[in-house]
Amino acid sequence: MKGKSHPTNDVTLSTSTSPSILDVIDQVNASRRRFVQGGVGGVALASAGGLTLGGLISTVHAAPVPPGPGFPGIGFESVPAMRAPVADRVTVPLGYTVQAFVAWGDPIAPGGTAFAGDASETAAQQMLQFGAHNDGMHFFPFASRDGSVDSNRGVLCVNNEYTHEEILFPDGQVGNGYTIAKTRKSQAAHGVSVLEARKIRGNWSVVKGSRYGRRLTANTFMTVSGPAAGHALMKTVEYTIADTGSTPTGNSSDGRVAYGTINNCANGYTPWGTYLTCEENFNGNFGSKSVVDTGTSTEIGKLNRRYGISAAGFGYRWHETDPRFDVVTNPNEPHLFGWVVEVDPFNPGSTPVKRTALGRFKHESVQYVVDTASRIAFYMGDDERNEYIYKFVAARKFNAARPALNRNLLDTGTLYVARFNADLTGQWIALTPDTIGLDGVALRANPNFAGADDAEVQAKILIKTRMAADAVGATMMDRPEWTGARPRINGFDEVEVYCTLTNNNRRGTTTPSSNAADGSTAAGSARPPVDAANPREDNVYGHIIRWRETGKTVTASSFTWDLFVQNGDSATTKVAKPTNDYKGNIVADPAGSADFGAPDGLWFDDFGRLWVQTDQAGNATGDWVNIGANCMVCADPNTGTTRRFLTAPPNAEVTGVTMTPDGKTMFVGLQHPGEDSTAANPTAFSNWPQSQWAVKADGVTPLPAGRPRSSVVVITKDDGGIIGS
Ligand code: FEO
Ligand code: CA
Ligand code: CA
Ligand code: CA
Repeated sequence: MKGKSHPTNDVTLSTSTSPSILDVIDQVNASRRRFVQGGVGGVALASAGGLTLGGLISTVHAAPVPPGPGFPGIGFESVPAMRAPVADRVTVPLGYTVQAFVAWGDPIAPGGTAFAGDASETAAQQMLQFGAHNDGMHFFPFASRDGSVDSNRGVLCVNNEYTHEEILFPDGQVGNGYTIAKTRKSQAAHGVSVLEARKIRGNWSVVKGSRYGRRLTANTFMTVSGPAAGHALMKTVEYTIADTGSTPTGNSSDGRVAYGTINNCANGYTPWGTYLTCEENFNGNFGSKSVVDTGTSTEIGKLNRRYGISAAGFGYRWHETDPRFDVVTNPNEPHLFGWVVEVDPFNPGSTPVKRTALGRFKHESVQYVVDTASRIAFYMGDDERNEYIYKFVAARKFNAARPALNRNLLDTGTLYVARFNADLTGQWIALTPDTIGLDGVALRANPNFAGADDAEVQAKILIKTRMAADAVGATMMDRPEWTGARPRINGFDEVEVYCTLTNNNRRGTTTPSSNAADGSTAAGSARPPVDAANPREDNVYGHIIRWRETGKTVTASSFTWDLFVQNGDSATTKVAKPTNDYKGNIVADPAGSADFGAPDGLWFDDFGRLWVQTDQAGNATGDWVNIGANCMVCADPNTGTTRRFLTAPPNAEVTGVTMTPDGKTMFVGLQHPGEDSTAANPTAFSNWPQSQWAVKADGVTPLPAGRPRSSVVVITKDDGGIIGS
């Protein structure tokens, strides 16, 4: 899975010349006051956030996690769990520094204005600013003068998943009526933010006015490619989109164009240097003023039902002023969403492409693997309760020598869905016209996919991916979130892929139900029994599954699997359900110090460390009193040993992570600090990041107060070493 933009990874633990943690504690004991005020350890203590002296001492005696096959070891000690009341700050281990890098509303494109603080920006201003609620991201380095990659300068692509209208507008969503101006600003805050990141004299900043700075929003022109492009279900009402409204032209689109990308959750990237943004809960942005067909007697009704389209949506009101998002007026428009979109980060004038060959569902993330035969596959999860895990295998080989030949690699290949068997084996089932479904007939004979020829059958299989997976009996999972692949380095040569299964409150009951093979089940409504791969009833804490492809090739039709971890709280005796006790295989280090739950973000760095980010109740109450606030942990894939690297501010999740190629700078996303506050009191739960810093990482740009802001932070190791070493 190595791209040409990434280093070869024969990396050992960094040899630090900084004082050891025991030295630092000695200094604390000698002069607590001097330490805090900025003695040699002052920076380290500041970066450790809420770490108390007691916390330091309780964790200091944990030895470094040693290297093993494919794993370089962990060289930091866990930060303590951030238990309630959650401090309004991010904490990182001793020896690391965390700083604000970019936040919602910061200017990233030419002409962008500084964040006003009171959310008084117009849609036009938001179009040039960093979007809302950042999620997955990737750093694309520039080439250095000597042809190597530059770890001090790159284009950072960041997803902006959704908006919280109470924070987005000064008066919230309902004050002064709801207007097209509000719809346009909300649409402008969705999508992807592309910005230039640069480190100058040790300080990271967003390059002002960079020509690479760019926003993709809910209204950006895109093309549609692959087998579903041009199908009748992809042809929509054509509108002229203006600030003042969207007006029908009287024409239909040709099914090969789309406007906008929304609910951009996690991400991926390709070894040929493009960014992949994944459209997740797109259904929530649609609605209607009229009754929406969600019945089982029409094709549209079944599609709406299986993908969760409804009149109310998630409470967005776009459809009230923008008829493009009214699913009665424009019933095919949702079919243009739920895809993986490919973006060229270095060409701000390029048109993003929706790649239909990778299927249509609530895409969480996408992780590529190139095997030793240069075959390439992309692993993906559909994040909703009782949905599925997929892989797309490109028909052509990846060509490392001639990147241009990979340009349309994502248009031709085979989409598979996973079945996990009780004996720890599994199958990849091809979603193609020939495949025989549970009803004993080939998908081409299934009425859901009936078409004039196999090309049309395949198009329908991809537009209705969930129904095709239902038809072939795929395994219903506990909300598949991110996928990640373990690098094949330092003696590890398997194709091994991990997927977070974050939770599921709809599994296990006396009257079980499954997603019907005829595709008629409403989204998220089934209640399957527990199974080997999803062993808990009403799974509160989640788990992480992993699989190894047979024959170490991405083209395998079978695999073996196990559970890497069943998450839980080792400090509680609470047993909500017989199968929900803590019996995970976390090897917490020291014991219990790195419990975590609701795993969501998952990513292997190029050095072999596994990073996992969580999305649970952010106030550390209820099931989370011991685990604390959301966090990011670093884990050893060989042993499961886990250490906590970062904790989040109140009511924030940790999502999105990337590094510079040298591994010395890490960018991490914090989403929705102070979630659920209202326009009347935006800072009711959090005022982060300005609660933690006066200025951003550049050392000069102030952080205006007023409302909490989803942000990307930048983390460096004080000895200049590799993050995690
Ligand atoms: Fe957008 Fe499944 O997290
Ligand atoms: Ca997520
Ligand atoms: Ca969340
Ligand atoms: Ca989540």
